[in-house]
Amino acid sequence: MTTFMQWIHLSAAVIGVGGIAFLLFLLIPSARVLAPEQHDALLKRVQGRFRWVSWSVIVLLTGSGLYNVRAYYWELAWGRAWFWLTIKISLALLVFAVSLALTLPLPFLARFREQRERWLSVALALAMIVILISAYLRRG
Ligand code: HEM
Repeated sequence: MTTFMQWIHLSAAVIGVGGIAFLLFLLIPSARVLAPEQHDALLKRVQGRFRWVSWSVIVLLTGSGLYNVRAYYWELAWGRAWFWLTIKISLALLVFAVSLALTLPLPFLARFREQRERWLSVALALAMIVILISAYLRRG
């Protein structure tokens, strides 16, 4: 079961973070060659599809992450491992918040979507720190 949950957690992280990097480094810059109408239509369609990917990734990371906390940390006393895990989970929640702000179809979030690239860069940078802390926890 722990191997299965590790597989779910890693696969969701790869798809989620890889998806953000793909948007930021490949799709959004490449879409600039399109005429404005086509450009907007493409990004709208991508946003609609990315919504389901990112929401699924959030559910899977949270479910498998909580399982991992229960399996590996629950019995541990407060200390270095819990400290870094708490920072990791807080940063992961920030990444989720940015992803939701970019994908929830709520009118008041339109100003986030206008600065899509900036927020995707923030999410990617935070996610890279989350992966670094996860690697550190794994070795610890
Ligand atoms: C942006 C979101 C997240 C990313 C990119 C991420 C990524 C990772 C990665 C790459 C690992 C290492 C897995 C391995 O080496 O097998 C890991 C482990 C882990 N993750 Fe996450 N994770 C995220 C969110 C979460 C959340 C929300 C939780 C808890 C609710 C969580 C809890 C854990 C735990 C407990 C481990 C095991 C750490 C250890 O090896 O001691 N993760 N995560």
